Parts: sequence; C-alpha cells; structure tokens
Amino acid sequence: MFKMLREDIRTTFAKDPAARSTWEVLCCYPGLHALWLHRLAHFLWRHRLRFLGRLLSQLSRFATGIEIHPGASIGHRFFIDHGMGVVIGETAEIRDDVLLYQGVVLGGTTLEKKKRHPTIGNNVVIGAGATLLGPITIEDGARIGAGSVVVQSVPPGATVVGVPGRAVAEERRAVLDLEHGRLPDPVSEAIKHVLEEQEHLAQRLKRLEQSLKVHGVPAEDEPPKEPPQSREDQSMAHG
Ligand SMILES: CC(C)(COP(=O)(O)OP(=O)(O)OC[C@H]1O[C@@H](n2cnc3c(N)ncnc32)[C@H](O)[C@@H]1OP(=O)(O)O)[C@@H](O)C(=O)NCCC(=O)NCCS
Repeated sequence: MFKMLREDIRTTFAKDPAARSTWEVLCCYPGLHALWLHRLAHFLWRHRLRFLGRLLSQLSRFATGIEIHPGASIGHRFFIDHGMGVVIGETAEIRDDVLLYQGVVLGGTTLEKKKRHPTIGNNVVIGAGATLLGPITIEDGARIGAGSVVVQSVPPGATVVGVPGRAVAEERRAVLDLEHGRLPDPVSEAIKHVLEEQEHLAQRLKRLEQSLKVHGVPAEDEPPKEPPQSREDQSMAHG
C-alpha cells in the first residue's frame, strides 16, 4: 500500500510542474486526496459495503469537489489536476497513467443498469471541461481537447477536439501533452495566405508583361513607343 501512495506522490510531481515539495503535494492537491479516498471507497464497494462506499465518496466530493463513484475502477499513476467539477460514473474504467483536468465528466447516456460510462485507455490526457458520454472507449495514448464533447470511441493516439468531438489530422499533433499554448494564430495565418497570394499574382503579372512585350505591347508603366517618323514629317516639323 505504501508503495502505491509513494507512486501517487511521484505521479503528482511528474504531471504538475507547479508541485514543489512533498508536504505541498500532501496538503494542497485535491486530486490526490480524491484518489486516495476513492481507493478506500472502491475497496468498501467491492466488499459489498456499498452504503459506506457511497458515503465516503460523498464526503470526498464535499472536501475536494471531485465526484468519483465508488464502483469506478482506476489504474496506476492516475492524476487529476485542480479537480473541481470532475465527475466519474459508476461503470467508468480508467487504466494506467491517465491525466484529467478540472471539469471532466465521464458520464452515462442511459438509465439502464449496465455498462454505461467510458473506458479510458493507458496514457490518455483529457483536457479541462471535456465531457465523455456513454460506454465508449478512448484508446491508449489518445488526447481529448479542453471543452470537447465526445460521444464516440477514439482510436489509439488520436487527438479529438470540439463539439461534437472530431479527430485532428495526425500531422498537426504536437510532441508534448500540454501544448494548448501553441494553438495556431488565425490572424497571422490569414496574413501569410494573403502575402503568398500577392506574390503569386505579381509573378503571374510579370510573366504576362514579358509575353506581351514580345508582341510589342508596352507594359502599363512604360510610355507607348512613338512610331518612327518619315522624312516628310521631319521636314514639316522643321520648316
Ligand atoms: C487538444 C490538445 C491536447 C492539443 O492537441 P494538438 O494535437 O497539439 O493540437 P493542435 O494544437 O495542433 O491543434 C490542432 C487543431 O485542433 C484545434 N484545437 C486544439 N485544441 C482545441 C480545443 N480544446 N477545442 C477546440 N479546438 C481545439 C486547433 O485550433 C487546431 O485546429 P485546426 O487544425 O483547424 O487549425 C490541447 O489543445 C488541449 O486541449 N489540451 C488540454 C490542456 C488543458 O486542458 N489544460 C488545462 C490546464 S489547467
């Protein structure tokens, strides 16, 4: 058991760059408190002490703002950052090395008493405020963008964003987990596009002018060439 507690503390340091000391982690991380209380509540639930399990889960919710049903199963090195507003339903299954941010909901879409909550694979990251609904599977290594609503299973390694969740093209995926600071800047992309188009048009115009020149038509900024004067015209001009 102590091995697991140490592992949870190490996970907090690994997943939150703001964590400074073990005391800070022990006292100031509601995600860690909720996880430990959930482990106890889950133990009670599995040993048919269901009411006690539920009661503990509600006390944990009161203290941390994180609601994890005691029936939910959670693997190793799980971490909830910030935590407030997280809801994890009864039949949710979470495998190892999963990272959740505040406001994540792993919810159900049916009132039937069957598997009705998501299954989350290994190494999955779920951004703040994302809502995942139904008995879907988020495969290993997938990432769910902040604020997304996901109602369909997600393949391994995919990044899903938006409402409803759509997969982001593979080549757009960044190397790090938390690259929300590198979201593309649409204004600079639009300016870049306009400049490229302008360059393209300038090249085209240049080619057109060159081909017109071959046929003797002057470019717009060149003065039109005077036709060569005959001898009669020249003598009239002088006389
Ligand atoms: C999804 C996420 C993991 C980034 O994935 P990524 O593969 O690096 O994606 P990119 O940043 O290259 O963005 C790819 C596309 O998804 C869009 N996108 C990224 N995150 C999005 C989000 N949360 N909601 C909607 N669209 C999003 C981008 O605008 C971009 O769209 P485009 O292809 O039309 O230009 C990240 O944006 C995210 O949401 N992380 C969660 C972090 C978090 O919740 N932190 C809380 C700290 S308190």
